[in-house]
Amino acid sequence: MKTAIIYYSRHHENTLKLLRAIVQEHSGVTLIDACEAGDLSDYDWIGFASGIYYGQFHKSVIRAAQEKLPRGKKTFLICTYAMRREGYTQRVRTAIEASGGEVLGEYGCLGFNTFGPFALIGGIAKGRPNAQDTAGAVSFYKKMLEGAH
Ligand SMILES: Cc1cc2nc3c(=O)[nH]c(=O)nc-3n(C[C@H](O)[C@H](O)[C@H](O)COP(=O)(O)O)c2cc1C
Repeated sequence: MKTAIIYYSRHHENTLKLLRAIVQEHSGVTLIDACEAGDLSDYDWIGFASGIYYGQFHKSVIRAAQEKLPRGKKTFLICTYAMRREGYTQRVRTAIEASGGEVLGEYGCLGFNTFGPFALIGGIAKGRPNAQDTAGAVSFYKKMLEGAH
């Protein structure tokens, strides 16, 4: 099983913390910066992961899903956000659907945010993702793998 996770994680590398935990626990997972995504046809599963920027996955991840995702792939979604809301995965899901792909599942948790006015109060969602959040990401991936066998 070969998995690629196409990601964008710049604000505090919050999303990357989840991805690194998955890579540490599971072999066969390659992390690819969304801006560097090339030919993905060799991978069985493609994950898309991002901090939430203005209510959506970062545009580089959405663009990768629109332009680089081979047809009919199994995919999954991982994100971190400052405030939990519906609809954060909508645009990336639309791109996956357009490629005839399937979304196996999604995982999201809080991520430390110091953007804009939140910096004045020292940020929100301090200390997140925490150990429980990263363990949750690892178990999310493990459960998907178990479901595949
Ligand atoms: C420019 C910018 C826009 C953001 N927009 C949102 C948003 O719309 N909703 C939200 O819950 N968090 C928002 N956040 C907070 C980030 O989603 C959160 O800190 C996330 O964990 C960052 O992930 P990263 O460190 O992996 O890049 C925003 C942060 C930045 C810097």
